[in-house]
Amino acid sequence: MAVADFVVVANRLPVDRIEGPDGEEEWRTSPGGLVAALEPMMRSAHGAWVGWPGQADLELAPFEIGGIDLIPVTLSAQEVAEYYEGFSNDTIWPLYHDVIAPPQYHREWWDAYVTVNRRFAEAAASAVSENGTVWVHDYQLQLVPQFVRELRPDVTIGYFHHIPFPAHGLYAQLPWRDQVLRGLLGADVIGFQRAQDATYFLTAVRRRLRYEVKGSAVAVPSAPGETRTAVAKAFPISIDTTPYLELAARPDVQARAAEIRESLGNPARIFLGVDRLDYTKGIRHRIKAYGELLAEGRLHVEDVTLVQVASPSRERVDAYVHLRDEIELAVSRINGDTDTMGHTAIRYLHQGYPREEMVALYLAADVMLVTALRDGMNLVAKEYIATRADNRGVLVLSEFTGAADELRQAVRVNPHDIEGLKDAIMQAVEMTPREQGRRMRALRRRVLENDVNAWSSSFLRALAEVHGR
Ligand code: G6P
Repeated sequence: MAVADFVVVANRLPVDRIEGPDGEEEWRTSPGGLVAALEPMMRSAHGAWVGWPGQADLELAPFEIGGIDLIPVTLSAQEVAEYYEGFSNDTIWPLYHDVIAPPQYHREWWDAYVTVNRRFAEAAASAVSENGTVWVHDYQLQLVPQFVRELRPDVTIGYFHHIPFPAHGLYAQLPWRDQVLRGLLGADVIGFQRAQDATYFLTAVRRRLRYEVKGSAVAVPSAPGETRTAVAKAFPISIDTTPYLELAARPDVQARAAEIRESLGNPARIFLGVDRLDYTKGIRHRIKAYGELLAEGRLHVEDVTLVQVASPSRERVDAYVHLRDEIELAVSRINGDTDTMGHTAIRYLHQGYPREEMVALYLAADVMLVTALRDGMNLVAKEYIATRADNRGVLVLSEFTGAADELRQAVRVNPHDIEGLKDAIMQAVEMTPREQGRRMRALRRRVLENDVNAWSSSFLRALAEVHGR
């Protein structure tokens, strides 16, 4: 029965599986910004969320949690290997992040991607009410807009691309480049993080499909002699700032920040990196620059600690296995060469932490290092800024992140330039409190004004305008 007026389709359901008090399984909402942004809309408009529960061969009936209807999509173990680990994360992910790792092209992975995208589209098409809205998210589901349109031409369809879209010279490598463009163009609005991403997409549409493009509008053939309009433009995503502001103001979280500093031996400067363990994040470059500063005596191990939280991610994909080995080797070399009994150069944590602990870490960190080689947005940079109500702390930010378009007062770096990165780290170390305050105030204004609610409202407004044009 199609009852939902507003259906979100994303690879993952916004829930985590936990063990209940008697050892039974329970589901809990995972605390993502996207869920927070869409929750009010989901409640007022009868919303549903179509997604994978995160485990192979798990067949679950639809269920409700926190006022949202969840519609689980089952993936077999082979589909997890071919659609998720394969095509999504070993073909599209590296290709769209400027080929930092070599993309693997396998026809059977593509076949699985088509099959699974069709399954997500069918679930959405049967959940959405007459003239309802379907909002598809991210690179795992690029064919879903077209499939939903074929099944349900009455529905308004939005798509948001959370990662970069590559320049045409790279995109052209994809053996299924035309099919993917047609898949995305099933949407009324195709949202990107940066203006540059939208431009690259429109260039690909013009050059590959030869559709007419005017500004951000594409004339998509819909029937013989007829076209409909699809709009592609930037809607930079942000975070739900409320929980970060609340946690940062809590005395127990502030006490935890002081305790963290204490347990690191009260260094004069704490540096912090927080990333999924992913080769796009530039963790190696950051560690290399920091290690050289210690080796050259520009920093001293008694005075500084780098806390690197690298949460486990996509652990069965080869490129991630190799990256982990490289990083762990680099960390232990630097620590082995420089540590004393009382001080360690790098506190490396291959773990994920609850939000409270992350906020305590942000409060403890004097310098936040975001050195991604390519990143759609980088929400960690925005989380750090949101917590710094004291207007202290320095953000070192790679110019290859979407966030760099907005966060102009950060210390900008090209992470490939190790000497430049070292100088930027020293600039952060030496920055006066007055200069920190000047920059942080401007950064905070930006992040607090453009939160995730502003983002989703502007996307949905654009969607309402375009549909039916
Ligand atoms: C990026 C992607 C998301 C993805 C997340 C975690 O932020 O844009 O779509 O969900 O990474 O990756 P995972 O493979 O664990 O879902």
